[in-house]
Amino acid sequence: VLPPTIRTILSEGPSSSSQTVHAWVRSIRAHKNVAFAEVDDGTARVQAVLKGKGMEAGLTQGCSVALSGTLQASTGKKQAVEFMVETAKTIGACDPDVYPIQKQQVPPAYLRDHAHLRFRTARTAAIMRVRDSLMRDWHDWFESNEFVHIHTPILTSSDCEGAGEAFALVNPIVNHPTSASAPQSSSASAGPSSSQSTSDRFFPHPVNLTVSSQLHLECPTHALPRTYTLSPAFRAEPSLTSRHLSEFYMLEAEVAFVDTLDQLLDAVEKGMREVLHRLMWEHGRGERTRKDLEIIRDHEPADDYGSPHLAAEPERPALSHLINAAARPFARMTYTSAIKALQAAQEEIEGRFEHPPIWGQGLSSEHERYLAAQNGGPTIITHYPAAIKPFYMLPSSADPSWAAEGGEQGETVACFDLLLPGLGELIGGSLREHRLGPLVAAMKKAGLKKEEYEWYLDLRRFGSVPHGGWGMGWERWVCWVTGVANIRDVVAFPRWKGNCRY
Ligand code: 4AD
Ligand code: MG
Repeated sequence: VLPPTIRTILSEGPSSSSQTVHAWVRSIRAHKNVAFAEVDDGTARVQAVLKGKGMEAGLTQGCSVALSGTLQASTGKKQAVEFMVETAKTIGACDPDVYPIQKQQVPPAYLRDHAHLRFRTARTAAIMRVRDSLMRDWHDWFESNEFVHIHTPILTSSDCEGAGEAFALVNPIVNHPTSASAPQSSSASAGPSSSQSTSDRFFPHPVNLTVSSQLHLECPTHALPRTYTLSPAFRAEPSLTSRHLSEFYMLEAEVAFVDTLDQLLDAVEKGMREVLHRLMWEHGRGERTRKDLEIIRDHEPADDYGSPHLAAEPERPALSHLINAAARPFARMTYTSAIKALQAAQEEIEGRFEHPPIWGQGLSSEHERYLAAQNGGPTIITHYPAAIKPFYMLPSSADPSWAAEGGEQGETVACFDLLLPGLGELIGGSLREHRLGPLVAAMKKAGLKKEEYEWYLDLRRFGSVPHGGWGMGWERWVCWVTGVANIRDVVAFPRWKGNCRY
């Protein structure tokens, strides 16, 4: 039987029977005849009261302990219960003078350099718990909507987004011994020399780390019509920002038999709303998560990037932006009307945006944040110009529900980005080009080699269906939910340009 956690001990309430708490000492206050230690095992924190023999254990901040005693109602004002220690044992000592995680809040940049130790801070522990809850809630949501989770590959020969950001893999040279006893291959067995070897590349073609699971996810979706994956993605993205990582997770979904963009948008919006409900109000777990969100809000460093959601209004409940998002329909507008709104805003205040908004160019992050802020919540921008989007997107004109707006200066595609205030892009998605001829033409235009994508084209040759999907940047989602400003703080071991320690 595993030792009980502090959470279990607390949930059972005060008791006269002796039990043992296994935990780490987060802080300690020693008086003449009594010491108070805040001990934490990652599930909960409790105040331990040490008198007499307990005092002799010499606990220090950071050490691990086994404390035997009883949980009792507290006479103090700060806590309802406390753990009265009868015997205390240090399991692993910790020299407080050199322990890198000091009691007072240390700067986040320092903690990122000590990623292996930062789980011990209340903030990181709470972020890890909320990230875990979010994962479970999305898995539940997808399951209850009949999606099948697929593990897609990390190693691939394709570059889904075609942005040239894929990390190339060192494709090692392997030697094949051609001894007489080895299984005979026609060419190697020709001569008598048993010590010879042949060598070639491990894979016969270049291989890179995946930038998105989408193309692979489209394959099972032509047999299991609703699929999703929460998988790693890798991008050699040189921009050093608070929202880019080199290794991140993406929650991607793909749905068959969908022929209008609105069907996808409705599903995305419903999923986000329902997951937020589960997260915050599901019996049992919701209460814990709300507490964790408060912990994270209370520890959000003001000296870093400045939290877009919380630090600016510290008195605001940590949940208000989520409650709003869960309650109100998301704003939807086309790229063309977004550009018009941005241009009007630029005219209003000269130089408001560093990059002038121009039809045909991508939205910059300042544009994205402006649009989401104007709408006061999640904002979906649809129908971007084909020229700035990847080859696989369906032209808007092939979506039966599409009504072209005036003033368009080129072809658009049935795609969308979901933007969040303070953060910018959270999700990218589209209907996929499911017709063989136009897809081949689009690949040619994008400069892709058809022979490398025959497998992908087969989906269009054999029982093709209209379909579409989306990908959510997992860490950006965790940032938004928790109110954490810097993406490097919501991942256990962050990797960004120049940083891949451990
Ligand atoms: O918009 P993106 O590039 O879309 C795709 O890759 C599609 N194939 C997804 C799909 O339709 N299945 O990436 C999707 C999301 C972005 O909106 C962003 O939130 C996140 O992935 N993302 C990153 N997150 C952290 N660090 C990076 N370097 C990211 N690049 C993209
Ligand atoms: Mg995108």
